[in-house]
Amino acid sequence: MSPFRLTRTLPEDATGAALRADVREGLTGSPRTLPPKWFYDARGSELFEEITGLPEYYPTRAEREILLARSGEIAEASGARTLIELGSGSSEKTRHLIGALAGLHTYVPVDVSESALTLAGRALVAERPGLNVHALVDDFTGRMALPDTPGPRLVAFLGGTIGNLLPAERAAFLASVRAMLAPGDGLLLGTDLVKDEKVLVRAYDDAAGVTAAFNRNVLAVINRELGADFDPAAFDHVAAWDAGHEWIEMRLRSRDPQTVKIPALDLAVDFGAGEELRTEISAKFRKERVREELASAGLELARWWTDEEGRFALSLSVAR
Ligand SMILES: C[S@@+](CC[C@H](N)C(=O)[O-])C[C@H]1O[C@@H](n2cnc3c(N)ncnc32)[C@H](O)[C@@H]1O
Repeated sequence: MSPFRLTRTLPEDATGAALRADVREGLTGSPRTLPPKWFYDARGSELFEEITGLPEYYPTRAEREILLARSGEIAEASGARTLIELGSGSSEKTRHLIGALAGLHTYVPVDVSESALTLAGRALVAERPGLNVHALVDDFTGRMALPDTPGPRLVAFLGGTIGNLLPAERAAFLASVRAMLAPGDGLLLGTDLVKDEKVLVRAYDDAAGVTAAFNRNVLAVINRELGADFDPAAFDHVAAWDAGHEWIEMRLRSRDPQTVKIPALDLAVDFGAGEELRTEISAKFRKERVREELASAGLELARWWTDEEGRFALSLSVAR
């Protein structure tokens, strides 16, 4: 087998059909919402990579700090031969863990962004000869057709991406992760932590406007894929802390009254002046909540590490 394989497990047009269903449901409901996975076309993935280097966006640096310090311990505790990474993006931080996992046989990055998977996968096989990289273009919230590879398995879900799921979606997601694991296999989970509101809001509303461009990119995706006539410049980027839910909300706010046509759905959507469309939530966590949510899914929290400043946590839990 070639050391780099890329499989699209979704049937032809599944992505288009899912986008049409999500846009119809999200733009005709109240409040208006869109799932964050539609940010990540090739341009959206590039913009996300740019965000990870911004001075205000501490999560990537904090999680990298933990991985640099703890990859040896994680490798020793898991002994993984297969590493499955969900929402792997550039796999940039994961390199530290891959380097530490001496017995690793196959790395399975899973992402909706084919461009990110291809770039990351090719670089990895060049860096680590002998490692099999089997990339899957798939939605981690659905049933994934994982390759048949040797255990023990370690599933990694980094970047705080779990915070993009609503509580009920998180519970279903964690249960599906547990179903991928045999007793004793592990989950390595990155969670951003509750902290000062100003620090949080700045991380999602940077001075250079890269996060604003990332947020508006979802409108460009809908224009291209569904023939819509969104004017992204007519929407303001909003990042707000919801203290009750302990999550950041990213929204797009229509500056003026406007009607957007979406021909592929035979739909016209009216926006009032100041009307908002929620494009992402990013939940922030406390240790006890992480422990409880893992336990409800049959995963036992075994290790908990934070960066020096206590901004971000990486936890290792074990399937019971
Ligand atoms: C916040 S980024 C994190 C990327 C990387 N793990 C990191 O830590 O920098 C989220 C990643 O998950 C991917 N993604 C988002 N929703 C997804 C879904 N439902 N299924 C698969 N991948 C998804 C995006 O394409 C993106 O690469």
